[in-house]
Amino acid sequence: MVILVTGGAGFIGSHVCEALLSRGETVVCVDNFNDFYDPTIKEEHIASFVHHKNFILCRVDITDKESLTRIFQQHSPSTVIHLAARAGVRPSFDDPELYHRVNVEGTKNLLELSHEHRLSQFIFGSSSSVYGNSRQIPFSEDDVHLEQISPYAVTKKKAEDLCRLFHTQHGLPITCLRFFTVYGPRGRPDMAIYLFTKNIFKGQPLVIFGDGHSERDYTFISDIVDGILSALSHPFPFEIINLGDSHPAPLRYLISLIENASGKKATIIMKEKQQGDVEKTFARISKAKKLLSYAPKVSIEEGIKRFVEWYKKNHQ
Ligand SMILES: NC(=O)c1ccc[n+]([C@@H]2O[C@H](COP(=O)([O-])OP(=O)(O)OC[C@H]3O[C@@H](n4cnc5c(N)ncnc54)[C@H](O)[C@@H]3O)[C@@H](O)[C@H]2O)c1
Repeated sequence: MVILVTGGAGFIGSHVCEALLSRGETVVCVDNFNDFYDPTIKEEHIASFVHHKNFILCRVDITDKESLTRIFQQHSPSTVIHLAARAGVRPSFDDPELYHRVNVEGTKNLLELSHEHRLSQFIFGSSSSVYGNSRQIPFSEDDVHLEQISPYAVTKKKAEDLCRLFHTQHGLPITCLRFFTVYGPRGRPDMAIYLFTKNIFKGQPLVIFGDGHSERDYTFISDIVDGILSALSHPFPFEIINLGDSHPAPLRYLISLIENASGKKATIIMKEKQQGDVEKTFARISKAKKLLSYAPKVSIEEGIKRFVEWYKKNHQ
């Protein structure tokens, strides 16, 4: 199979590319190495497999339809795993147009080409943020009364809606996977777990927004990769499926785990809750269990140990 992975140099994408290559697949990675965070980190993400004979790297922006068209013509992928996006809730308030252009228009380009080239499957990396502060807890895929509370979340929901449209109009087989706060080795440097760990090791205070009682369903990267690979081997006409750990942890507890794993005590500065931050995320994963045999294996306690080990090895 030739699998086109967008955002393949990013955190989740690089783990997906690695897993696909180790299964013997051919991977076409489309990534524009933008500076949302230091692009040299993205070069490091792919360094161990960039010269693999089955890895083809295309430094292309998904908003550039002409270049994407050439890639589809040249490499004839059978499947797209679409992970490229402007990520991050808070920065999306500063430049909602950019988020729309990449996350919605870019997704539309990929859907159009996937339809034209009669791809057998399109997997879209969506987000728990589409649930906003949903009252139905745990968050369930059949809850249709969703109110997104950030421009980022709105773009993810719009992209899901486009996926649904391309399925109903053209029959393109699509699976939208809603990821819940993914963390682990190569974790994004703008995310809380990375920032907290970095500051603890530097002896700098941790800034938390709100009173520390907010909860997140933290999901270890290997469980997310397992879910994506399982979706790849279970093509559906159209499905939306949560991929979470289904054990939300309060922020204070998360910090205590990082303290234990690093052997250092954190100094905490509390600031006002920020716009776009939801109170709690919590994935109902019965659908993923049933359709994908998804069974998250790495608890937050074990996952934080592994993350801090990785951080120490790579940054100390
Ligand atoms: N990390 C999480 O907790 C999380 C949670 C929910 C959903 N997601 C989604 O999963 C996907 C991957 O997230 P991640 O955490 O690995 O982020 P990331 O920023 O590490 O990876 C995204 C990659 O996409 C690339 N990219 C961005 N805009 C592009 C464009 N216009 N053209 C080509 N490439 C572009 C970036 O250079 C980057 O390498 C994203 O769609 C994100 O919205 C992530």
